[in-house]
Amino acid sequence: MSESQDLAPTLSSFRPALRALVWGASGGIGGAFVAALEANPRVAAVLGASRTASSPWRFDLEDERSIEAVAQAAAAGGPLDLVLVATGVLLPSPEKSWRQLDPAVLSRAYAINAIGPALIAKHTLGLLRRDAKSVFACISARVGSIEDNRLGGWHAYRASKAALDMLVRNFSIELRQRNPQGVCVALHPGTVDTALSRPFQSAVKPSKLQAPADSVRRMLLTLDGLTPADTGKLWAYDGAPIPF
Ligand SMILES: NC(=O)c1ccc[n+]([C@@H]2O[C@H](COP(=O)([O-])OP(=O)(O)OC[C@H]3O[C@@H](n4cnc5c(N)ncnc54)[C@H](OP(=O)(O)O)[C@@H]3O)[C@@H](O)[C@H]2O)c1
Repeated sequence: MSESQDLAPTLSSFRPALRALVWGASGGIGGAFVAALEANPRVAAVLGASRTASSPWRFDLEDERSIEAVAQAAAAGGPLDLVLVATGVLLPSPEKSWRQLDPAVLSRAYAINAIGPALIAKHTLGLLRRDAKSVFACISARVGSIEDNRLGGWHAYRASKAALDMLVRNFSIELRQRNPQGVCVALHPGTVDTALSRPFQSAVKPSKLQAPADSVRRMLLTLDGLTPADTGKLWAYDGAPIPF
C-alpha cells in the first residue's frame, strides 16, 4: 500500500458542505461509508438508505417506486455531491461450471447487482450538482472484469458485475453531456470483511482481507482524486484502474 493510501480523505475536490446519499447503508461497506462521511468535517449531510424496516430512507432494489421515493426525498434538500451504491449480492455456492447454471440464480444476480443499481442511476444522476464536481459511484468487483478473468467460474456474479460496469460506462457518456464536472464510475473495494465475503474468507490470505473502514477510506481517497477525465471506468480501492 502506498503512503498516500494511509491518509484520511479530505474530500477537498468537492464543494464544501457536501451532501451524500449512500444506498445500502445496512451493509458492511455501505455502513462504513456512512460512518466515514459522517465523521468528515467537509460533509454537511449523509443520507443512508437501506431496506431496513426502521430506516427513514427505506428502499428495495426490486421496487422502483421505493427508489424513486428516496431519490425525491433526497432531492428536496438540494443537489447531491456524492451518490454511492453499496448494495449487492453474492449468492451461496457460486457456480464452478456451466453445468451448475440456474436461471433463478442468474436472474437474481442481475436483478440485484445490475438492474437495481441502474434504477438508482435513473433516479439520481439527474440530482447531481452541476456547478462543481459531483460523483456517482457503484461498488462493482474486480471479478466482473472480462479482461482480468483468468480463473473463470462464479458465472452469475461475474456476469452481473460486468453488466453493471457496462451500464456505468453508458451512463458516464450520457452524464458528460449534462454535467461536464460529473464523474460516474464503478469501484472495486478489495476483499473486505463483510457478510458477503465471509463464506469465502478461508481462501483469502489475512493480509489481503481489509476492514470495511480501511477499504472505504481508500475508496473515498480514490474518488477525491478522480477528475471528469477518469469517468466511465472501474477503479480499485487503491486508485489503480482495472480494465473492463
Ligand atoms: N466484501 C467484499 O469482499 C467485496 C468484494 C468485491 C465487491 N464487493 C461488493 O461490495 C458491495 C457491498 O457488499 P458488502 O461486502 O458490503 O456486503 P453486505 O454487507 O452483504 O452488504 C450488501 C448490501 O446490499 C443490500 N441489499 C441486498 N439486496 C437488496 C435489496 N433487494 N434491496 C436493498 N438493498 C439490498 C443489503 O441490504 P440488507 O442489509 O437489507 O440485506 C446490504 O446493505 C456489493 O456490491 C459487493 O458485490 C464486496
